[in-house]
Amino acid sequence: MLFLVSALAAPLSLRTETVSNVTCTDSSVTLDTHETDVALLQICGGISGSIEFCQGNPTTTTGTDGGSQFTITPVEKGATINISKGRWEQGIKAVAATCGQNKPFTATFTGGASTGDVNVALTQV
Ligand SMILES: *[C@@H]1O[C@H](CO)[C@@H](O)[C@H](O)[C@H]1NC(C)=O
Ligand SMILES: *[C@@H]1O[C@H](CO)[C@@H](O)[C@H](O)[C@H]1NC(C)=O
Repeated sequence: MLFLVSALAAPLSLRTETVSNVTCTDSSVTLDTHETDVALLQICGGISGSIEFCQGNPTTTTGTDGGSQFTITPVEKGATINISKGRWEQGIKAVAATCGQNKPFTATFTGGASTGDVNVALTQV
């Protein structure tokens, strides 16, 4: 059991996505959990299943389901997005620790682009 716990814990500590510039944009809104979870996996034309990175090197991308929409835009103009699913999900969790689950926000995630960081927004649509 102890072995299992440490084996599972190790990969999580390898790289923790850092987020900055977090603004909780509307604390009165709580988005639908299922729609937000689905929208999360719709970025870059879809990152579900075995896809581990944003595909296609887009210069901006959205992921939408129902009333939840994620938007990713590189901070540096002309940079392309190649964020990994692991970092993406870690960043979302880190923001949720500040704003709450399923709350609209804007934030800057470290890395995730060909150069520089990416701005991320979760909005109600
Ligand atoms: C902070 O977030 C805002 C809103 O997304 C964005 O316009 C701005 O570029 C970000 N600032 C930095 C330093 O990334
Ligand atoms: C994204 O592209 C940059 C620059 O080419 C590279 O250093 C980085 O490793 C790439 N990240 C991923 C997750 O592929």
